[in-house]
Amino acid sequence: MIRNDELEAILEKIDLKNDIPADEPMRQYYFIKKAREIVDLESQKAGHRLTADEETFGCQMNAKDSEKLIGILKNIGFEIIDSEEADLVFYNTCTVRDNANQRVYGRLGLIHSMKKKNPHKKVALCGCMMQEPSVIEKIKKSYSFVDLIFGTHNIYKFAELLVAMYSSDRMIIDIWKDTDKIVEDLPAERKYSFKSGVNIMYGCNNFCSYCIVPYVRGRERSRRPKDIIMEIEKLVSEGVIEVMLLGQNVNSYGRTLDEPMNFAQLLREVEKIDGLERIRFMTSHPKDLSDELIEVMKNSKKICRHLHLPLQSGSTRILKAMNRNYTKEQYLALAHKIRTAIPDISLTTDIIVGFPGETAADVDETIEVVKEVGYDNAFTFIYSKRTGTPAASMPNPTSDEEIKANFDRLLKVVQETARSRIGRLTGEIHSVLVEEENEHDPALVTGRMSNNTIVHFKGGKDLIGKIVNIKLTEACGFYYLGEMENFEN
Ligand code: 5AD
Ligand code: SF4
Repeated sequence: MIRNDELEAILEKIDLKNDIPADEPMRQYYFIKKAREIVDLESQKAGHRLTADEETFGCQMNAKDSEKLIGILKNIGFEIIDSEEADLVFYNTCTVRDNANQRVYGRLGLIHSMKKKNPHKKVALCGCMMQEPSVIEKIKKSYSFVDLIFGTHNIYKFAELLVAMYSSDRMIIDIWKDTDKIVEDLPAERKYSFKSGVNIMYGCNNFCSYCIVPYVRGRERSRRPKDIIMEIEKLVSEGVIEVMLLGQNVNSYGRTLDEPMNFAQLLREVEKIDGLERIRFMTSHPKDLSDELIEVMKNSKKICRHLHLPLQSGSTRILKAMNRNYTKEQYLALAHKIRTAIPDISLTTDIIVGFPGETAADVDETIEVVKEVGYDNAFTFIYSKRTGTPAASMPNPTSDEEIKANFDRLLKVVQETARSRIGRLTGEIHSVLVEEENEHDPALVTGRMSNNTIVHFKGGKDLIGKIVNIKLTEACGFYYLGEMENFEN
């Protein structure tokens, strides 16, 4: 990420009459300047400043990518609005389950009729779904009004792609199969002033047999520790007090670096940053979670008391078919080790129901693990077949009705467990980072405890971004109601 003043100083020196620079990020700075000219011109033609609307689907990685895309749009002169009536609508898509794809097609149908009324309207699509060749074929055939399509490897080229889009009437498609390039130092827009996601690695090498991520996000690449630390220091200097380190499998961080460093060592370095108060990370693969990491978490004053540890299934037979590389017993032993070392930690998880060949007996084993581990929250998904993954060609004799019944059975236990786990802290005082005004009641604000549980309490907007001590007065399912004690900072 680059500061505005730094970028302006660079842009001032660029002469658009010169050749387009070949190297990044200079090339993108050139196109940012060029795009500004185009947006100004188009705004004059339209009689108003061009507006843009983004819709993000999927995970934290996509949310982070969208911040980068919005940063570029704002920088080149778009006004960002929250309405699909905008002059430019872009969808940052997800394809981890088919329902995410279906939602995008639904939205495109709507946009088509809007575009008929306003032919200057532009539509751009990016993200994981666009990395699938079958999707591109479908869009070319059935949604030919789309103006720009790009994937997950070239989002840093957004300014260049927008220039191409405004200079052509044809659909611009730029999809890369993979990349070893990591281009940073571009403008980005942060959704919250006091907390931020920070990519520490891209891609995934695990090839869980149901998962499309390794195919659409490419091979694992870690960012250099120096770059990560510099980015966090910069964020902290701008008022950020909480960071979420992002990667598909943070526990394998560092394997692709020239000078090796593992995730636990990286966390030790991040911990040293003055002014940073809270560190979170996402996601941990159980097979790679080291004793060193547990030790670092245990001794840390800043790492939050929360670990998201996807289980996916509690049946060793299914875990093997999923290519998860751990057994039920190994997972349970790991959870036990973590809880023994850090008793106040909250564990959350992801579980898939309906993987090919999964029986009610397998789901019973998953339920057993849920009860034994005692998750504070679990995200449960019905298996979705993803073309091109190994699981897509596995036969599944289990009927949809049985899968639904298994899912409901699991969900009931998940909810009961979460409710009783969350309530355990009632009456205690905990520090809470205030994140926003309460959605339903403006007299309340909403914050997050170190263990990731949400708390609502009476307070003003001036508390947003501060860490305050809150007495947890009442547990209501997945969240608490509380009362403010004295300030911490
Ligand atoms: N079907 C259902 N759920 C899936 N996930 C990943 N791939 C699939 C799929 N094909 C879930 C996993 C993962 C979470 C992000 O999404 O549980 O941890
Ligand atoms: Fe998908 Fe497995 Fe990689 Fe997670 S670790 S992104 S589930 S392949």
